[in-house]
Amino acid sequence: MYNDNPTLNINKEIDESKQGQAFFKEGIKGDKKFYIESYGCQMNFSDSEIVASILADIGYQPTRNIEETNLIFINTCSIREKAEDNVRKRLRIFDKMKRKRPDLLVGVLGCMAERLKEKFLEEEKLVDMVVGPDAYRDIPKLVANAFDGEKGVNVFLSREETYADISPLRLDGNGISAFISIMRGCDNMCSFCVVPYTRGRERSRNCFTVIAEARDLFERGYKEVTLLGQNVDSYKWENPETKKVVSFAELLVMVANVSPELRVRFSTSHPKDITEEVMYAIRDHENICNYIHLPVQSGNSRILKLMNRTYDREWYMKKVDDIRRIIPDCAISSDIITGFCTETEEEHQDSLSIIKYANYSLSYMFFYSERPGTLAQRKYEDDIPLAVKKRRLAEVIEVQRAVSIAENEKDIGKVFKVLIEGNSKRSDDFYKGRNSQNKMTIFQKKGDFKPGDYVQVKITESTMATLKGEIVL
Ligand code: 5AD
Ligand code: SF4
Repeated sequence: MYNDNPTLNINKEIDESKQGQAFFKEGIKGDKKFYIESYGCQMNFSDSEIVASILADIGYQPTRNIEETNLIFINTCSIREKAEDNVRKRLRIFDKMKRKRPDLLVGVLGCMAERLKEKFLEEEKLVDMVVGPDAYRDIPKLVANAFDGEKGVNVFLSREETYADISPLRLDGNGISAFISIMRGCDNMCSFCVVPYTRGRERSRNCFTVIAEARDLFERGYKEVTLLGQNVDSYKWENPETKKVVSFAELLVMVANVSPELRVRFSTSHPKDITEEVMYAIRDHENICNYIHLPVQSGNSRILKLMNRTYDREWYMKKVDDIRRIIPDCAISSDIITGFCTETEEEHQDSLSIIKYANYSLSYMFFYSERPGTLAQRKYEDDIPLAVKKRRLAEVIEVQRAVSIAENEKDIGKVFKVLIEGNSKRSDDFYKGRNSQNKMTIFQKKGDFKPGDYVQVKITESTMATLKGEIVL
């Protein structure tokens, strides 16, 4: 879900054959083109689609061929030092290109733009625009100024901006699955996290625009939407006319009611905020997927307190129990950080044991990376040696690997409804798709099923990361 790796960026994941279908916004005039590359979380990828829409409105088409444009954007992530290092490497490559092509403009978007602000222009002399996550509406002006030779920075953080009225220009192009951003920012102050500083205060988007976007996608053939927010369970939108407040559980049901044929996913849930109403909404609606990303971060209560997660180990285990009781066939996944400030070996063991307790289908696992300006950086010493952080990470990965293998083995013999996403990477004779639990499933083509169709797949084999099976009619 988190992409720190430049070789995995959005532009490379796009299915070239779908380019025409999803890429070109109707009515764009002229042949001006821009190139955009995204790093980090799904929210960043979703933001790039808003930026693409704003650029399309001034006549720019997206291209994946960097050679045929003189306007490059890089949508950046600050979550870990490595994420920022990768962006800097990429900027150095753009730098070289700029020396050969002086008309080339480079714009830095997203979290690194917000964190470093004007410093970007000083540090990376060849960057022309620095635009924070709430300032994308200003891009047309910044682009025009940049073409006139004037560099620009807009990193204003807003309390209201949700881009509610902007219809994103879909860049991922599989034409089946799309992100819908339902809120922005984050008011939790997890001590390790830079996000509250780079994305500002939490605000929820008008629910009617969310539903309209889901309906529009469905009418255009999409079959799956993922509702995105840093903390979706605290979604709260007050209708200014009726004063009625819409909760996340209510929003989920409204989106699910667009059509039983439209699958609904969401990310990310915070253990302190997820409610039983959300769990009941999942249980009662076949098209709300049985999958919850519920990051634990650490399995130890003292570390959780230092992390300012506002729950402890027992609270988290109770949430897992609630999910298992209400939705027995729900997959749960997690994020885990190893080697947070002052973490002892015993406390690290608690992270290993909670993986087994929760039986995560998968986890995104990281060693702690101190981020400038965060609570942890100001209050605690980053005292765990890198080698220890990495060794603990390897142990966490190993336990998760064993749990994933065991979890997936349990699926052998079961039949799942799978949404076909396209050909499998290895062979055109096979399709790939996900089941409700978000597990990637590979199966041989049969009949005239095509991407976007639902099929029943009986699982015959499993690995750590995938299920294999056959279509049953
Ligand atoms: N160091 C390591 N991992 C981090 N994350 C967030 N901040 C840091 C950090 N400073 C992880 C958390 C979060 C995920 C998006 O990234 O696990 O859930
Ligand atoms: Fe990275 Fe967090 Fe910003 Fe997403 S919100 S791009 S994960 S720093």
